[in-house]
Amino acid sequence: MERRNFIKGLASVGLTTLLPAGAFSSALVSCMSENQIEDYDFDKVIDRTGTWSIKYGRATNGEIPMWIADMDFATDPFVKAALSARLDRDVMGYTTTPPEFIDAIALWMEQYHGYQVDREWINYAPGVITAMNQAYLAFTNPGDKIIVQPPVYDHFKLYIERLGRVAVDNPMILENGQYHMDFDGLEQMIDDKTKMLVLCNPNNPCGIHWNRETLVQLADICERHGIIVISDEIHSDLTLYGVRHLPFCSVSEAAAKVGMIFSGPTKSFNLAGLTGTAFCIIPDQTKREKYVSWLKNSKLEEPSIPTLLAVIAAYRNDTRWIEALKHYIEGNIERVVEFFSTHQLGMTPHRPSTSFLVWIDCRNLGLPQDQLMARFKDKAKVILSNGAGYGPGGEGFVRMNIGCPRATLNQALERIEKEFKA
Ligand SMILES: Cc1ncc(COP(=O)(O)O)c(C=O)c1O
Repeated sequence: MERRNFIKGLASVGLTTLLPAGAFSSALVSCMSENQIEDYDFDKVIDRTGTWSIKYGRATNGEIPMWIADMDFATDPFVKAALSARLDRDVMGYTTTPPEFIDAIALWMEQYHGYQVDREWINYAPGVITAMNQAYLAFTNPGDKIIVQPPVYDHFKLYIERLGRVAVDNPMILENGQYHMDFDGLEQMIDDKTKMLVLCNPNNPCGIHWNRETLVQLADICERHGIIVISDEIHSDLTLYGVRHLPFCSVSEAAAKVGMIFSGPTKSFNLAGLTGTAFCIIPDQTKREKYVSWLKNSKLEEPSIPTLLAVIAAYRNDTRWIEALKHYIEGNIERVVEFFSTHQLGMTPHRPSTSFLVWIDCRNLGLPQDQLMARFKDKAKVILSNGAGYGPGGEGFVRMNIGCPRATLNQALERIEKEFKA
C-alpha cells in the first residue's frame, strides 16, 4: 500500500486508542515515534528466506507459499519496539508474570471486544493449542469423547487423538453458501462418554464468526449435558467488515459456566514465532482453579520475557496498526473474490468475515483431492492448505492464506489463472 493510502486507510476505519498517549508508564514503547507507525507499509515484500520460516521451508521450487497461518507482514511496530527496548537491558533472568500482562488483556477484551472480564478469570496460557491440550488432560480421561465441528482447524483432532481421547465429528451444515452448526446431530451424538466440545470461534478454515443465537444455543445444550466448551478465539481480533466478535463466555450465564476461552495476539499481531503469546479466560471458579493448578503442576505457567512484552505491547497500545491491517486484508479478500468471479475457473471463494484465510470451493473441478493439491503446488506453483485435512466437509476445498502484500497475491492469482483456465 502506498503511504498515502495507508494513512487514508486509517482515517476510513476510524482510529481508536486503547491508552491515551503517555499513559503507558514503562519504557516499553519509548522508542516508538509517530513516524514509525505512519511509515508502516503493508505493500512491502519482505524476504523471509533464511529466517527458519516453516511456511517458506516448504517452498523449495519457487512456489508461493500460502498455507500455514502466519502473515508475510512485519510485526506490529509497537511490539518490535518493546522487544528491542528490552534486549538493550542486558539481563534475562527468571521473570514473573506482571500485573500489566493481565491488565493488558482485560483492557483489550473490554475495549476491543466489549467484554468486561474480571481480572481473576485471566491467566497466562502456554500457546493456544498447548493450553487446550492441557485442558483435555485436566478435565477428561483416556477414552472420553471430545466433539469437534468440521471443517475445522486440524490440530484439534490431531492432539485429542494423540492424547488418547476420542475425537467425534459433528460436521457443520453447508446450505446456500452458509455454514451452520448441526444442533440436531449434536444432541443425538452426546452420550455418557462425551465430556467436551471444541469450538472454533471464529472458525478456521471457513472464516466465519458465530452469532449470539448460535452461541447461546450451543451453551444451553452443553450445560444440559454437563459438557465443557473449549472456545479457541485466536482469530477473533481479526473480525472484518465491521463485524463484532462475541467471546463465547460472554453470551449467557450458561456459557460462562461451561466455557473456557483460549486466545492471544498470535494471529492478529503476527507473533507465531514467539510461541506462547496466549492467555485463557475461565469465569467458572472451580474449573479455573483446577486448570491453573494443572498448569502449575506441569510447570507450564511461566511465560518468557518476549511473550510478556509482546502481549502487553500488542494489547496496550493504540489500534492503528491492527485496524490498518484489517483494512488491507479486506482489500486482498475483495481482490480474490473479484478474480474468481471474473475468471470463472470453477472455483468459488467464501468471503471470510474474519482473518486472512480464504476457503475456496473447488468441487466443480471434479478432481480427486490429491490431484487438486498437486496441480496447485507442482503446476501453478502456489502452495495452499488441503481442505480435506480439516475433516468431513473439507474434501474439494482449499484454504488460501492471503496475509501477504497485494503484489504477492496478484502473482499467485496469475499463476492459478494460467494453470486452470480452460
Ligand atoms: C484456530 C487455531 N487455533 C490455534 C492455532 C495455533 O495456536 P498456537 O500457535 O498458539 O498453538 C491456530 C494456528 O493456525 C489456529 O488457526
